[in-house]
Amino acid sequence: MTELSKTGAAVGEPTPSNPSDAFLEVRDLKVHFPTDDGIVKSVDGLSFSLEKGKTLSIVGESGSGKSVTSLAIMGLHRLGARGKNVRMSGEIWLGGKELVGASPDEVRRLRGREMAMIFQDPLSAMHPYYKIGDQIVEAYRVHHNVSKKVARTRAIEMLDRVGIPEPAKRVDGYPHEFSGGMRQRAMIAMALVNNPELLIADEPTTALDVTVQAQILDLIRDLQKEFGSAVVLITHDLGVVAEIADDVLVMYGGRCVERGPVDEIFEKPQHPYTWGLLGSMPRIDRETSDRLIPVKGQPPSLINVPSGCAFHPRCPYADLPKGNVTRTVRPELQQVDGGHWSACHLSPEDRTRIWTEEIAPKL
Ligand SMILES: Nc1ncnc2c1ncn2[C@@H]1O[C@H](COP(=O)(O)OP(=O)(O)OP(=O)(O)O)[C@@H](O)[C@H]1O
Ligand code: SF4
Ligand SMILES: [Mg+2]
Repeated sequence: MTELSKTGAAVGEPTPSNPSDAFLEVRDLKVHFPTDDGIVKSVDGLSFSLEKGKTLSIVGESGSGKSVTSLAIMGLHRLGARGKNVRMSGEIWLGGKELVGASPDEVRRLRGREMAMIFQDPLSAMHPYYKIGDQIVEAYRVHHNVSKKVARTRAIEMLDRVGIPEPAKRVDGYPHEFSGGMRQRAMIAMALVNNPELLIADEPTTALDVTVQAQILDLIRDLQKEFGSAVVLITHDLGVVAEIADDVLVMYGGRCVERGPVDEIFEKPQHPYTWGLLGSMPRIDRETSDRLIPVKGQPPSLINVPSGCAFHPRCPYADLPKGNVTRTVRPELQQVDGGHWSACHLSPEDRTRIWTEEIAPKL
């Protein structure tokens, strides 16, 4: 990730002035859904960038906007009935092309070939009534002018590559004939059949048992090494983040509250919400009673987002910054150091003291 802001100052949304600096660059992305109850601001001013060969993990509790962000990058909000009800603004640069303003056809051409997505539920990406092999063949032929035979060979190769036994036989199986883990692998084979340069994995292992989870993550990591792709990995599992991510982006209420290199986020986190997430991470070596209490309270409404800092109703330190600033002024991302940014009104001294004296000893 980059530390430069549009103005060159170390305050505000950090984005490089040259979009080609990073393979993926998201600038001030807003994805709003007008509904009968009001406008749902699912993503509300998100910026980040990602280089090839790197993995960015997006974390945050349910409803913070992680999936909406990925679907926006993939251009999937524009499809179907839902597409009519989405308002998108900002910029999404992929390999030097801007996608928010691009036509649906242009985005479709990139989807599958330059960017692909793995979902939590493989059946959301696969058709239940078509053979796995035929679906991979189809995905390949959309972008390659080759015969069905050539594409089938490629499909078998991919099934083999993702560790599906007897690929020449399984290629003719239907999704329901595969176990959960095997279906997930088949979906990964389909996502990777065109060697996409950006892979977005949205909770790719949540539904799987621990051993299969580890195998799938190893697979994503190996394939990334092999193809040098940029990977966005969305997960609730901070253990996975620690293992696989280069950078971490913490989302709260549709915005980024902290981001930085993975070691910084685990060793020197700056935002009270990140402290809460780390505190709720399961640890096998500690009694539950010794642990911090997970973040109390409910995620914010995305229709009536709390004023000032959206986290203030749940933040134990909301009264520390002077005046009523946490309730009236929305904190912008400020550079901590290097690629590490945090959006909180606490003074650096307060943050360091609370982290080192109150939080870290309990983790
Ligand atoms: N089409 C839509 N219309 C209205 N609201 C929507 C729509 N799609 C998503 N939302 C809302 O946007 C918010 C963010 O949703 P999103 O799916 O991105 O959350 P998430 O961070 O992926 O959560 P989870 O961890 O549970 O997957 C949610 O409150 C959701 O209800
Ligand atoms: S700005 Fe205030 S309320 Fe928000 S996280 Fe920081 S201390 Fe807590
Ligand atoms: Mg989601």
